[in-house]
Amino acid sequence: MTDGLRLTVLGSGYLGITHAASMASLGFDVLGVDTDRRKVDQLNAGQLPIYEPGLEELLRDGLAAGRVRFTTSYHEAVAFGDVHFICTGTPQQPGSDQADLSQVHACVAALAPLLDRPCLVVGKSTVPVGTARRLAAELSQACPGAELAWNPEFLREGTAVADTLAPDRIVVGVTSSRAEEILRQVYARPLAAGTAFIATTLETAELAKAAANAFLATKISFINAMAEICEAAGGDVRALAQILGADPRIGPAFLRAGLGYGGGCLPKDIRAFAARADELGSGDSLAFLREVDAINLRRRARTADLTLELAGGNLTGIPVCVLGAAFKPGSDDVRDSPALDVAQILTGMGAQVTVHDPAALDNARRARPELRYAPTVAGAARGAHVVLLLTEWPEFTALTPGSLSGLVARRNIIDARNVLDPGLWREAGWEYRALGVAADAETAARLDPSPWQA
Ligand code: UDX
Repeated sequence: MTDGLRLTVLGSGYLGITHAASMASLGFDVLGVDTDRRKVDQLNAGQLPIYEPGLEELLRDGLAAGRVRFTTSYHEAVAFGDVHFICTGTPQQPGSDQADLSQVHACVAALAPLLDRPCLVVGKSTVPVGTARRLAAELSQACPGAELAWNPEFLREGTAVADTLAPDRIVVGVTSSRAEEILRQVYARPLAAGTAFIATTLETAELAKAAANAFLATKISFINAMAEICEAAGGDVRALAQILGADPRIGPAFLRAGLGYGGGCLPKDIRAFAARADELGSGDSLAFLREVDAINLRRRARTADLTLELAGGNLTGIPVCVLGAAFKPGSDDVRDSPALDVAQILTGMGAQVTVHDPAALDNARRARPELRYAPTVAGAARGAHVVLLLTEWPEFTALTPGSLSGLVARRNIIDARNVLDPGLWREAGWEYRALGVAADAETAARLDPSPWQA
C-alpha cells in the first residue's frame, strides 16, 4: 500500500504533528523533526503540546505501532526519508503584513546540504506565491536528485485529523510526473476513497491556499458588513444570512455573522496575500482584502461600544463577564482571538473584565496575563453588569437566563456570535443585544437557526 516510502515531517507545530500522526495512520513509517528538544521528548512520550480532538490517540497508536517517532536531527531525517514534508510555521512579521518565512528558510537550509540521494521535498506551509520556485532552485543546486513539490494544507483546527485523512481535495504543485506519482502514492488511501486530486504548477498550488483563505475571510466579512447595515437600518442579519444561504450559488457555510474571524491562519494569511500582491505590482487586485480585514476588526470595536452603551456610558470599574477566549470553539488557540481582543479593549476602557473559557484559559493567561480569569462561568458572571458571549462553545450556547440571572448584578447580555434565543432572554427580563440586529428590530420568531449554524 505504502510502497515502502518513508516520510519525514519537518516542523512539529499544529500542521506537522497532525500530518506526521495521520501519515503513520495511513501505514507509512514517519519521522517527525523539530529543533525544540522538549517538544520532541513530549511527542515521543505521546503527549500533545496542542489541543486537537482525536490527535493524541492517533499519535499514541502510531508510536505504539513503531510507525512514528520524533527527533531533533536533520542528519537522521535525511538518512531516513524518501519524501520530506516542510510543515514549519509562517507567522505574520512583527510590524508588517508580510509572512515571516524564516522557519521555512531555516528548514531548507538545514536539509539541503545534507541531501545525498534522490528525494522529494514537499512544502505544506502557507507561503507567498513565488517562494516554492526559489526553494526548488536552492534544493536542486544542493542536490541534483532533490525535487520540490508544493502541497498546501487546508486543515481546520478542531477537525484537523479528518481534514488530513479525508480532505475535500488534494492539491499538488509539481514540476515532473515523477513528483506527481510519488504524491499519488502518499495519498493513495484518500484518493481511493474519492478525494479530488489536482496537479498543477508550483505557483497555482501556493495560490490555492491563499485564495481559499481570502475567499473564506471575504465571505465572513461580507455577512459582517451586512450586519453593520442591519444595525443601521433595523434588519436582522441572522434572517438575512439564512435567506442568502438558501441560494445554492451562495451557500450557507461561512455566513455566521458576529465577532468575525481570528486564529493563526485567516488574519495573517489574507494580510500576507495582499502584501505579496503589492510586491507583484498587482496591489489593486487585492486591495479589497484590506477592507475585509477592516470590517473584521470593526466588529471588535463595535462589541466594545455596545458594552459601553449597555453599561450606561461609563465602564470605569464596571464588572464585565467575557465568555470565550479561544478564537473559535473546539480549540484552545488564542492567536488573534477576537474574544481576547474585546476583553483587552474593555479593560482599556476601565472595565473589570473576567474571562472564562472551557479550554483556552492557560493559553489566554500566557498571552494576556493582565486580564482576570475564572475557572467557571459562574465565577466570571458573578456581579457582572454585562455578560458577553464571544466564542460559541456549546456550554455557552446552551446557557439559559435561569443559569445566570441569580449571579449577575445587571441583566445585560451581548450575543456576539448570534447563538442565543433572543426571545428567551428578553422574556426573562434581560436586555439582549446581538451583533447585526438593531436594538429595536423585531425578533424573527420563526427563524430556524440550525441550517446555517451547522
Ligand atoms: C481556516 C481555514 O478554514 C482552513 O482551511 C485553513 O487551512 C486555516 O484557516 P481555522 O483557522 O481552523 O481554519 O478556522 P475556521 O473554522 O475556518 O474559522 C476561522 C474563523 O472564522 C474563526 O474565528 C471562526 O469563528 C470564524 N467564522 C467562521 C465566522 O466568524 N463565521 C463563519 O461563518 C465561519
